[in-house]
Amino acid sequence: MSAQMLPVVNLDVFQSSSGSSESLQECRKAADALIVYGALLLHDSRVSEDDNNTFLDLLEDYFNQPESVLKQDERPELGYQVGVTLENTEKPKCAAHEPCLDIIARLDPAERPLDISAHQPDPKCRFFWKMGDSPPYETAFPGLNAENVVPQASELRERWSPIMDRWGWAMKDAVEDLGEMVAIGLGLHGDTFRGAGKYGPHLLAPTASDLVKYAEKDTILAGFHTDLNFLTIHGRSRYPGLNIWARNTGKRISVKFPPTGRYLLVQAGKQLEHLSGGLIKAGYHEVVVNEDTLQAVERRKAQLPDRPLIRISSTFFWHLSSDYDLAPIRALQDRARALKGHPTGLGKVDLEEESVYEPMKVGHQVQNELRHIALLA
Ligand SMILES: [Fe+2]
Repeated sequence: MSAQMLPVVNLDVFQSSSGSSESLQECRKAADALIVYGALLLHDSRVSEDDNNTFLDLLEDYFNQPESVLKQDERPELGYQVGVTLENTEKPKCAAHEPCLDIIARLDPAERPLDISAHQPDPKCRFFWKMGDSPPYETAFPGLNAENVVPQASELRERWSPIMDRWGWAMKDAVEDLGEMVAIGLGLHGDTFRGAGKYGPHLLAPTASDLVKYAEKDTILAGFHTDLNFLTIHGRSRYPGLNIWARNTGKRISVKFPPTGRYLLVQAGKQLEHLSGGLIKAGYHEVVVNEDTLQAVERRKAQLPDRPLIRISSTFFWHLSSDYDLAPIRALQDRARALKGHPTGLGKVDLEEESVYEPMKVGHQVQNELRHIALLA
């Protein structure tokens, strides 16, 4: 496994000197990082670690409730797109999806993810908190734009919305600004992605894994997969365990944030792959219990013995608008074709991979993906 650090993109430079050559260089760095790795680390001084910690505490308390209480917040009729998803519901698409199994087979054996072929759903829970603005037009996908669920327990109800919104907005601002940087870095108008996702059903989407129940090394908490949305952004988790695959080399990278400072991890999703005609590929990742996870559990137990031992991922899914017509941008698709097989290695990790991107509404793309992961009938 590679100990390599991902490229670090400085959003502060873009914020403070938009239009300067330094800023343009940072934009190109962002675009290239997504083409080469499918992922990057983002430095944004506006983001507060305290807000992330307050958010992680709230979610630990929420998922520490009995399952019967959590169950009241499930909305299976809405494809679980708001409220809670309990453990053993979501299946990694790869477990039964041949093109994805082929990708694993083509990886160097030393770089492969933990074996997901047993077809087990993920033992992780999730909460979806919608952060998007409702479209001012009649959407063809009302189910993907449903009202949020607020937990009932009195000790959670009061603090829930302000904490979720505060952290959610910090991540949303960061990822939208990064989207603008990437657009500029790709030679597009800065508003290209931001505009296409103006009414997207963006989600603050923490996952929760019970580290008492799933305390064995090499347990898969979330099996090898890509995200179905446009860009995913993560704050720091209290427990390591996220592995991502660099798109250019197929090497597995264990994600490590710089020890201090305001950093976020960003990974490309399927909607960006589709819109860029495969120039930027959605990044594969998994969450597992590894040696570092277990050490973090021991440290946490010693420091705060009364706190729940639950791994919360500080995750936000940024989406394109459901009614947006998803089709490759010509200039990017041409570049993707030109790069395929290019000796520099840019974006050429897997020449066998699918590269047909049929035009469709974003809402249909999302519904197709949700069926694959067993969240929609
Ligand atoms: Fe994911």
